[in-house]
Amino acid sequence: MKFFIDTANIAQIKEANDLGILDGVTTNPSLMAKEGIKGHDAIMKHYKDICEIVDGPVSAEVFGTTFDEIIMEGKVLAAIHENIVVKVPMIKEGVKAIKWFTDNGIRTNCTLVFSAGQAILAAKAGAAFVSPFIGRIDDSSWDGVQLIEQIVGIYNAQGYMTEVLAASIRNPLHIVRCAEAGADICTCPLVSILGLLKHPLTDIGLEQFLNDAKKMQ
Ligand code: E4P
Repeated sequence: MKFFIDTANIAQIKEANDLGILDGVTTNPSLMAKEGIKGHDAIMKHYKDICEIVDGPVSAEVFGTTFDEIIMEGKVLAAIHENIVVKVPMIKEGVKAIKWFTDNGIRTNCTLVFSAGQAILAAKAGAAFVSPFIGRIDDSSWDGVQLIEQIVGIYNAQGYMTEVLAASIRNPLHIVRCAEAGADICTCPLVSILGLLKHPLTDIGLEQFLNDAKKMQ
């Protein structure tokens, strides 16, 4: 399973990249706004900066909701860097746009996916990635990971090439369960990635080894 970081924060992207396990980045308008990025030029520069740090797909989301708006914005985003993936919402106009981008050699990430039916449409339109939001599903007392399992099963049965990108990750257990479910990618906040490191027996064991190591010096 590939690891993407789900943030627009440059320091966090650098920290995850320095770990050596980072395969890509996802952003959305909320994550970009949180970093105080404002205006066309600042947005373009920020995506370019991210692409210069991480050697992998970087999802940049369109703001438009009509076919023409999505295509116009997507072309501009895709021109920033070869690693930019145009993130398009799962709406009717979005599906049409994903098909257009696919036919014109531009990779897309279909976002705001909450059902297997939506994931089938995204794959049929040729999205490179589909983003089911598992944390938001959990928030409404359903099991988001079950949706990942269902989509992975359908894509395998049908031979769809779209990669399942588990999004809206809230904790390290989500990452482990997505790996079990066969997700191709997990996009995670830095804190969830670092949470995978934690185990009290590792800390206790290391302390003991370091104390014993001193006896040999
Ligand atoms: C990433 O592609 C999504 O936009 C993101 O994971 C959504 O996460 P949230 O539900 O925590 O906002």
